[in-house]
Amino acid sequence: EDADRLARFQARIDADERIEPNDFMPAAYRRTLTRQISQHAHSEIIGMQPEGNWITRAPTLRRKAALLAKVQDECGHGLYLYAAAETLGATREELVDQLLAGRAKYSSIFNYPTLSWADIGAIGWLVDGAAIMNQIPLCRCSYGPYARAMIRVCKEESFHQRQGYEIMLTLARGTAEQREMAQDALNRWWWPSLMMFGPPDAASAHSDSSMRWKIKRFSNDELRRKFVDATVPQAHVLGLSIPDPALRYDSATGHWEHGAIDWEEFRQVIAGNGPCNRERLAARRQAHEDGAWVREAALAFAARRARAEAA
Ligand code: 3HC
Repeated sequence: EDADRLARFQARIDADERIEPNDFMPAAYRRTLTRQISQHAHSEIIGMQPEGNWITRAPTLRRKAALLAKVQDECGHGLYLYAAAETLGATREELVDQLLAGRAKYSSIFNYPTLSWADIGAIGWLVDGAAIMNQIPLCRCSYGPYARAMIRVCKEESFHQRQGYEIMLTLARGTAEQREMAQDALNRWWWPSLMMFGPPDAASAHSDSSMRWKIKRFSNDELRRKFVDATVPQAHVLGLSIPDPALRYDSATGHWEHGAIDWEEFRQVIAGNGPCNRERLAARRQAHEDGAWVREAALAFAARRARAEAA
């Protein structure tokens, strides 16, 4: 691409203009957005599994209805995001095939098991809480379709976070056994939630370009810090302890300083060696096969209607 067009593009970004599908954009901008949006979409679809696992075992009809609504929302978020990725020229089929072939990334957090009902509370509270931290700035992303998809997603995400926190509050104020369930879930979901924000800024391959192009508005470490600062006080309200002996409040900066994150665990989970990676992909492949007849029927119907209209 010639330097002049690139300079004009960057000037539009610097002026906080929205880039739309038919506008000129550098190939690298298109590539990194297709990468991020498709992985975001995959995360939403795979993310249905850990929670879906508890829909039939929810403790009350109200909890069941809220969880059912949340899992359906995640599916919808995935579809918005695949649609946003298609505006960049990718096809949904090729993105889905990459996921099914194990060649695509999705958020590390969904490779952990949901062992008790309290995990559903911890996921809503921590995972959706972290997702909100990450997705609110994405509403101001320079690429129009992605930013607009995020506005609707964030509205639904706040309901997800509230219902999760309410589950944790109910358990934390319940019997000793329920409190222990809530603490056990916090112990298992705390560190993987911090890893959701990505590697440390110094190890982040894409942050420089994503910040320059206003795709990423805050760095991985900045968002992680905002999440910790907001969440530690919530744990105190719940009467639960954060599983980090090094956690301490720095009154000089007003931030909570936390202990070292196990980046080797993060690398292993991303490389496919997390607790549930294989079963998540196996379940996705099975669901895709089970749904083949729907896709074939829809294609046959569309072809017949096209022939009827052409006749
Ligand atoms: N899980 C898996 N891969 C991760 C990751 C994570 N938690 N964090 C980073 N990575 C990957 C990146 O994709 C990149 O690999 P790639 O080059 O193969 O894509 C590599 O690690 C280096 O990380 P970078 O920081 O350089 O990558 P990014 O600039 O893309 O930043 C990100 C990572 C902050 C996750 C960014 O991609 C992002 O904001 N993505 C969109 C939001 C998102 O995916 N949120 C998590 C999904 S959870 C969710 O939304 C469901 C909720 O509704 C419950």
